[in-house]
Amino acid sequence: MDYSYYGLWILCTSLWHLPQCISSFVNTKTVADETCILDTFSPRCPSSQRLFITSSHYGHMKLGKCVTVNTGHLGCMSDVTDIVRGRCNGKTRCQIAGSDDEVVRTQPCAQKIYTYLNTSYVCLPEEAQLESCSNFAAGRHWKYLVSTTIDQRCLHQSQSLEVTVQSSMDIEIIATMINDITTDVESVQVGISDIHGNSTVMDILGSSSHSVQQTFESSAVHIMFQHSKAILLFAFRAVGCEDLVAPEFTWIERKRRVITIGCIHNKYTWQVECIGSKWIGFRGNCTRQIELKPVEETINKEEANTEPKQPIFTKGIQYALTIGITVLLCVVVITTGFVCLRKAEYKAKASKDIKLQEMTGDYNTWKATLMRPVTNDLNNPNASPCSV
Ligand SMILES: *[C@@H]1O[C@H](CO)[C@@H](O)[C@H](O)[C@H]1NC(C)=O
Ligand SMILES: *[C@@H]1O[C@H](CO)[C@@H](O)[C@H](O)[C@H]1NC(C)=O
Ligand SMILES: *[C@@H]1O[C@H](CO)[C@@H](O)[C@H](O)[C@H]1NC(C)=O
Repeated sequence: MDYSYYGLWILCTSLWHLPQCISSFVNTKTVADETCILDTFSPRCPSSQRLFITSSHYGHMKLGKCVTVNTGHLGCMSDVTDIVRGRCNGKTRCQIAGSDDEVVRTQPCAQKIYTYLNTSYVCLPEEAQLESCSNFAAGRHWKYLVSTTIDQRCLHQSQSLEVTVQSSMDIEIIATMINDITTDVESVQVGISDIHGNSTVMDILGSSSHSVQQTFESSAVHIMFQHSKAILLFAFRAVGCEDLVAPEFTWIERKRRVITIGCIHNKYTWQVECIGSKWIGFRGNCTRQIELKPVEETINKEEANTEPKQPIFTKGIQYALTIGITVLLCVVVITTGFVCLRKAEYKAKASKDIKLQEMTGDYNTWKATLMRPVTNDLNNPNASPCSV
């Protein structure tokens, strides 16, 4: 019984974590869109994602969909990235006409030169709120920030971004470059320094797929990067186990992933280990009555499996089961009700039809149908050759 509870628990936890697993593999594919003067730029993202404009230029840049013949005026252009970002970033869709007033007003080319808008964008997960550069709190679910936001809000004010998690947990970071720059930038690096004073460099351009993932054994890190043309998407989350509150009459001693718990009134001690996001291990119990018990130090897998017997665990399962059974019962009751209702309706309708048929003209119609061949044959000589 305990093992089936355990299985159920694992199933629930894995289902719970599924959306998280998917969201950590963000597909950041850049889409380039050429908008001719009579067209409209109208990008779209799935409802869970938001538009981010990586670059937008307006002018008579080069040959392509809009400019097909070189009349010797190629190359004039203005950077309208900020204008287009202002209208599209953070939305799931937007529209900008190729002849948009604000864009056309930048007038990079001579009069009468045929111009177009060329925009590149990506669909990103929704950005988190960046309230303060000194305390961006990450939790168990991924939180996203784009480097341009960090640049504007923190680095331009000569402030690094500080990401924090609960004191006992670690910080996992993924930095992904979302625009295609290969020629004019030689390196894209992110510097991370932790509370122990150690610093690490994440080399984004040097990695395959321009994405680096790393976990830092620290409850706070400072993030710095040079202002370059590279646009980075940062994902942060807390990993590890939450702090353990010392049970009654105990002391606790923490060494990263292992906690030793001991009784205040005797020499009885035991250990728990952080595996994934849970403290696993033998759970002891100190009451004033216990005088002396043998020292229990090894973490036994068999003992780890007895965990479901703990009150909190059983309570959780009881809630889950109660809710599950209630939902199931509701579904059964509603379905049965619906089916019964439909059946009753159907029966009522059927019997009504029969009664109506018996009581009204339907009977006459039925009679007439039976009689007709006879009457017809008698009255109509052309009805069939036999009747002659
Ligand atoms: C549009 O922009 C993309 C990305 O910046 C660039 O690769 C492409 O050559 C541009 N196309 C035209 C026709 O300007
Ligand atoms: C980080 O710093 C601490 C204390 O200064 C040191 O013990 C530890 O080995 C360092 N870790 C790394 C990964 O450099
Ligand atoms: C703690 O241990 C004592 C003695 O073995 C036992 O009577 C008591 O029920 C235990 N308490 C808990 C909360 O497990």
